[in-house]
Amino acid sequence: MSLHHATLRQLKVFDTLAIHGSVVRAAEVLHLTPPAVSIQVKQLAETVGQPLVEQIGKRLHLTAHGRVVARACRDIFGRIESLGQELAALHGLESGSLSVAIITTASYFVPRLLGDFCEDHPGIAVAMHVGNRETVLERMERNEDDLYILGQPPDSAQITAAPFAPNLLIAVAAPGHALAGEARISPKRLAREPFIARELGSGTRRAAEEFYAESGLVPSIRMELGSNEAIKQSIAGHLGISILSESTVRGELASGELVRLDVEGLPLRRQWYAACPKNKMLSPAAKAFRAYLESRAQVETRSANGT
Ligand code: PGA
Repeated sequence: MSLHHATLRQLKVFDTLAIHGSVVRAAEVLHLTPPAVSIQVKQLAETVGQPLVEQIGKRLHLTAHGRVVARACRDIFGRIESLGQELAALHGLESGSLSVAIITTASYFVPRLLGDFCEDHPGIAVAMHVGNRETVLERMERNEDDLYILGQPPDSAQITAAPFAPNLLIAVAAPGHALAGEARISPKRLAREPFIARELGSGTRRAAEEFYAESGLVPSIRMELGSNEAIKQSIAGHLGISILSESTVRGELASGELVRLDVEGLPLRRQWYAACPKNKMLSPAAKAFRAYLESRAQVETRSANGT
C-alpha cells in the first residue's frame, strides 16, 4: 500500500464523512453530490487496501481501518489549520479571522464585547453562532469554532476553560406576584409555583433543575420555551416564575417590569467561561479576544463593586 497516492481531497472528503456519519450530510457540507463523496471514499479505501466504512442497517460505521484514517485526518487538518494561523500571525493580528460560538444566554452581552473588539481590530473577519448549551458543545466536538462561550463547561480533560465573568442565576416573577417582596422564600415554597422552563439542552434549565433537585424537589413546569425573551414575556404575563441568568433580565429588573425573588440558596453563583478543545492551537485573533474578554470583565466587575 502506498499512501502517497491518497490525495488531500480524498482525505478531506473522508474526514467530513467521518465527522457527520452520513454521505448525504458530508455531500451538503462539501457542496458535492453524494455519489461524488462515495467515489472519493472508495478511491481512498482502494489506496488503503481495506474498506473504511460499512453500512449496518441504516447507519454508516467506520471500520477499524476507517477509524485509524479518521484520526490521522484530524491530525493532518488540525496541522493545516494551525499552519494557516501561523501564516496569518505573520501578517499580524489585523488580518485574522475569529469564529465564536456562544450560548443563547451569553448573547445578552458577548455580542457587545465582540463589537468593541472588532472596532479595535477592524481587519479581523468575525463569525458568531448562537445556540443552547447542547448545540455549542456539539460545535466544540466538531471543532467548528475558535472559542466557545458557555456557563458550565463539560467536566472533561480534553477541554480547557477559563472563567472570565460572574454569572448569577436568580428567580424572577411579575411584580405583584404573591411571593414578590417576601424574604427568604424556601425552595419548597418556590417549587409550588408554576415554572416556565427553557428547553431541554439549555444550561439554564439544567442549573435550575439541579437547584430544585438539591432539595429533593422537581419544579412544576407549566411551559417550556426555547428563548429567554419568550420566558420573560410569559413571566410578565403572570404565567409563572423562572430561574434565569441575571444578565438576561437586567433591563426588566431596572424598569420594574419583573422582580427578583429572595429565595434561599439563590442566586446560583456561576461563571461565564471561554472554552476550547485542549489541543487546539488558538489563532492570534482568538487569543486576543479571550484576553479582551478577561480584561473587560475585570473592569466591569470592579466598577460594579465600586472599586
Ligand atoms: P443556555 O446556557 O443559554 O443554554 O441556557 C446558559 C448557561 O449554561 O448558563
